Amino acid sequence: MKKVGIIGVGEYLPKKVLTNADLERMVDTSDEWITSRTGIKERRIAAKNEAASDLGLKAARQALHESGIKPHDLDLIIVATITPDMQFPSVASMLQQGLSAKKDTICFDISAACAGFVYAIATAQQFIARGNVKYALVVGVEILSSLTDWKDRNTCVLFGDGAGAAVLAEVNSGGILSTYLGCDGAKSDLLYVPAGGSRMPATKETVNKHLHYIKMQGNELFKIAILSMTEAAQVALKRAGLECADVDLVIPHQANVRIINAVAKKLGLGEDKIYLNIEKYGNMSSASTATALCQAVKEGRIKKGDIVLLDAFGAGLVWGACVIKW
Ligand code: UT7
Repeated sequence: MKKVGIIGVGEYLPKKVLTNADLERMVDTSDEWITSRTGIKERRIAAKNEAASDLGLKAARQALHESGIKPHDLDLIIVATITPDMQFPSVASMLQQGLSAKKDTICFDISAACAGFVYAIATAQQFIARGNVKYALVVGVEILSSLTDWKDRNTCVLFGDGAGAAVLAEVNSGGILSTYLGCDGAKSDLLYVPAGGSRMPATKETVNKHLHYIKMQGNELFKIAILSMTEAAQVALKRAGLECADVDLVIPHQANVRIINAVAKKLGLGEDKIYLNIEKYGNMSSASTATALCQAVKEGRIKKGDIVLLDAFGAGLVWGACVIKW
């Protein structure tokens, strides 16, 4: 099996900023509540003419540039998203066209919500490790504003839009040391969008009843998120033959700063070992870990030889962790 690493990262965040003060004018909420309960101050919102593939393409181009790889070198494109441009075709196929990648590039989307980027990294790793693929592009992109009920204060203050990307290839040393993915489908009703699929196709009634928006039992998820992310990190580190103390930086899914702090405490990791971008971008599902990884690299928080832990949890319920020696 070949060693597989990340050789370039990229990101794109839409220009429009929606602040807590803006939300105070839209629903019965306050900057104080949002900040103290979630750690979020502002989030980005895609423009009306921006779809997932538009954001994903910009992040992908940056990751390709950073890695020195040309689009025609790609053999595999995986997009992790729950907000594709349309039900089909895949966003990955749109990126293949947008990048003018070659026609035998394998292209597909992964639906693993907030753990999607970790699921996609783990999947791409398998293709490269077995020698089936040389270069893979993995993108985490979401336009959660398209699934947000802007009249529901329980959810509308939480989410944002964005895209992050990574190029994976064989590396001589380090790379992905371990992954751990899991799912508990029995709890899928804690976070879902009821309508718009084959179970409940769109009708006037589903639209009138706001059934195309995210429904979430936040406080139930809160507890499960802490346990799942802690366990995922521990299992992935064990599989890599490492201890929590070996970790240089954790890139956690950014759903709530209180969840992240609780996980860090359980793992015995100080604040300096945790990367946060939730304050500026909110919860961007699969794009949260993807953009956070890119920003951590750009800011010099990740150096060659560092042990980096990706740790995510989301609708499904799904979770995933990945240990990388940079
Ligand atoms: O992305 C991966 C999956 N998602 C998660 O992991 C999310 C996990 N959950 C959370 O982050 C938190 O549960 C939330 C941020 C969603 C909510 O925080 P909480 O501390 O669990 O609050 P709560 O839902 O228990 O609500 C407490 C109170 C309620 O009022 P009452 O019933 O106590 O009078 C809510 O109605 O806060 C109220 N509330 C708000 N008040 C002001 C809920 N949303 C708001 C709001 N502004 N935006």
